[in-house]
Amino acid sequence: MLPYTEPYKIKMIEPMYPSTRAQREKWIKEANYNLFNLKSSQVYIDLLTDSGTGAMSQEQWSALMSGDESYAGSRSFDSLHETITSLTGFPYVLPTHQGRAAENVLFSVMVKEGNVVPGNAHFDTTKGHIEFRKASAFDCTIDEANDTSVYHPFKGNVDIGKLENIYQVYGKERIPMIIVTITCNSTGGQPVSMENLKAVREFADRYEIPVIFDAARFAENAYFIKTREKEYQNHTIRDIVKEMFSLSDGMTMSSKKDGIVNMGGFIALNSKELYQEATTFNIMFEGYITYGGMSGRDMAALAQGLKEATTFEYLESRIKQVHYLGNLLQEAGIPVQEPFGGHAIFVDATRFLPRVPREEYIAQTLALELYLESGVRAVEIGTLLADRDPETRENRYPRLEMVRLTIPRRVYTRNHMDYVAAALQNIFERREKITRGYKIRYEAPIMRHFTVELEKI
Ligand code: F0G
Repeated sequence: MLPYTEPYKIKMIEPMYPSTRAQREKWIKEANYNLFNLKSSQVYIDLLTDSGTGAMSQEQWSALMSGDESYAGSRSFDSLHETITSLTGFPYVLPTHQGRAAENVLFSVMVKEGNVVPGNAHFDTTKGHIEFRKASAFDCTIDEANDTSVYHPFKGNVDIGKLENIYQVYGKERIPMIIVTITCNSTGGQPVSMENLKAVREFADRYEIPVIFDAARFAENAYFIKTREKEYQNHTIRDIVKEMFSLSDGMTMSSKKDGIVNMGGFIALNSKELYQEATTFNIMFEGYITYGGMSGRDMAALAQGLKEATTFEYLESRIKQVHYLGNLLQEAGIPVQEPFGGHAIFVDATRFLPRVPREEYIAQTLALELYLESGVRAVEIGTLLADRDPETRENRYPRLEMVRLTIPRRVYTRNHMDYVAAALQNIFERREKITRGYKIRYEAPIMRHFTVELEKI
């Protein structure tokens, strides 16, 4: 058997920025121990996010050149619209400048004060847009998702029993929709099975509640359905994608992920009425309905990106690269969320650094150690991100303190993955010596992790 290789080669290169530990110590102190405050030239391998950080193909770059910049009726919008409708089945499409903008527009129509919105661990901007409207987001993910040592092939699944409990307490009037995030970022890029999507649909039909997918990584979700759900092993990715979306009433999309573009988003819907209501907000917040905050050329590149992202060849190489890193860490005994997710490897920081108290931000401490050790920038998915309870203002301690090693699409090579694994291994070997973390010097009232300022304890 021959080894697996990436199904593309490199045409244009971008420099990397090596640094010394002394430089990194100075830079991170100046950045108030917040990795978001670093300049990209102070970072060697950037695993902060897979959002908008992917590499476009030559076909996408070519599409850019033929973008139609007409204010209304752009040809590039038509081609994007056709692509989205043929992939998802949704007839109505509104472009937005990114995923959270799609949430803002759609929730302006759907979410009212006092509402509750159940789902599988909403992403932070989704939760933010719900809480901003004085509504609540309830996490109904299956319990297995919160134990990194338990194997479950679909840790993004929704627990229908938890949905039922919420329905019994709040009733139809207060539940404007169920949001299913595919794949579920917050639990580790974990997929939702087709079986579970069907069960959510059945529940929603019984009580006449709309289902909206937060579909940022829908293609990766389809890959996991194909490779982990027996019934679908001979289906094409596009057939699976079509079937997935047939089980929802609409979607919000961050095109910066499975659209493989650097900026963009959209809403796609079945209901004409809902589309018409959303249109008004789209025009107010984003732009006219045939561009919604996107350039014509970007819509053209996105249409092409969506086609590439829904091929098995692309998805296999993407996800195999992520899992290659996961395997290296696992072989070194480093605790990681299993099975591995689609876009990232999530390191279980509590098990990695058992001596750091949770009040001192365990996952952030590990992410900072990794930067100091190697120049690799990862991101905390822990107490800083979880924010404070909007009512009590107490820290919300999540069940998992994770460091996310997020892999940009088509950007890094296997050597880069080896480097990241070696860096973490070095820290793992001296983990017993790491006993203290950080304290907060400044924080914003909402979404604090982006701007928080920390101090070493
Ligand atoms: N939904 C999910 C599941 C996401 O992961 C994101 C963004 C959004 C919505 C918002 O989309 O960034 O285009 O406004 N996730 C990025 C991340 C930021 O790093 O995981 P956006």
